[in-house]
Amino acid sequence: MILILGGAGYIGSHTLKHMMEHGYECVVVDNLSYGHKEAVQCKNFEIADLMDKSSLQAVFKKYKIDAVIHFAAFTYVGESVTDPKKYYENNVIGTLNLLSVMLEFNVKKIVFSSTCATYGNPLYVPLDEKHSNNPISPYGKTKLMIEQVLEDYKHAYNLQYIALRYFNAAGASAGGDIGESHNPETHLIPLVLRAIKGDIKNVSIFGNNYETPDGTCLRDYIHVDDLASAHRLAYEKLDAFSGNLNLGTGIATSVKEIIETSEKVSGKACPQEQVGRREGDPAVLYASNIKAKEVLGWEPKITKLEDIIASAWGWEQNKKF
Ligand SMILES: NC(=O)c1ccc[n+]([C@@H]2O[C@H](COP(=O)([O-])OP(=O)(O)OC[C@H]3O[C@@H](n4cnc5c(N)ncnc54)[C@H](O)[C@@H]3O)[C@@H](O)[C@H]2O)c1
Repeated sequence: MILILGGAGYIGSHTLKHMMEHGYECVVVDNLSYGHKEAVQCKNFEIADLMDKSSLQAVFKKYKIDAVIHFAAFTYVGESVTDPKKYYENNVIGTLNLLSVMLEFNVKKIVFSSTCATYGNPLYVPLDEKHSNNPISPYGKTKLMIEQVLEDYKHAYNLQYIALRYFNAAGASAGGDIGESHNPETHLIPLVLRAIKGDIKNVSIFGNNYETPDGTCLRDYIHVDDLASAHRLAYEKLDAFSGNLNLGTGIATSVKEIIETSEKVSGKACPQEQVGRREGDPAVLYASNIKAKEVLGWEPKITKLEDIIASAWGWEQNKKF
């Protein structure tokens, strides 16, 4: 039985669906602080909290857990700057609680949701795993801290781990039954689609004078179903490899391209406003995904921007939660 922690959230619910489609038995744990119970397509669903060790112990007692895929965290970079305590407590102490319960129950396999925010401002692109780690936000620091803990636990306790450093997760499940639904939403694609729908007044473009082809920032958008398949492959590779892997497409896409492609896909104009640069936004961030391809035998499949946005647009028009 695989424990999907944070499985009521965006990436967790898509990974859960993928794992179950591949025949894996799963149990989901979430405290529903940000997740949606409607997103959990699994009969085994337990409400528990990383901050409450006894609630985790109860789950490990009830189910025979072989491995954990750990998505549960607070994820707002800006909020982590204004309220770092919330992030260090939940993301660091919460994960230490989880690891301690795992060791108590002799569960020694974990796939961990990390982030490209561990790198900080890029010294070169594409970012590979050898790039130095210099996170600029408390959010990024919490993820790097846990990566370091995992490495120490590997040596001391034989913990087998893979930390997956995602770039920008995007898109929705092909069936349109689950998709991205953060509240508040800070991610560009859902904001653009909501502006197109008229749910919000407009979308803000932060800066238009970066040293990029059209002056707006470049990011690497990776489809959530490609993230899901990488988690399954990582789980299957835990015996052979422990360490960090980037998950991105290796393609750099600008804010303007996102808006133009969303307008094309929806057939409607996107109300937008040009504002100043946002502090801490590097001009260009995209992944080298060579190591993930080599280690996992993984290949992102939905790499055309139009297809990624079409899947998000399908969900956005017919959202279930
Ligand atoms: N979305 C992205 O683009 C992105 C990029 C890089 C890394 N990540 C990481 O991937 C993971 C998943 O991201 P997401 O976008 O699906 O976020 P999400 O907020 O949709 O999902 C996180 C889930 O964890 C749950 N949770 C939080 N704290 C908990 C606790 N103490 N106990 C139990 N459950 C708890 C929430 O209720 C939520 O369902 C996070 O760890 C995030 O840092 C996401």
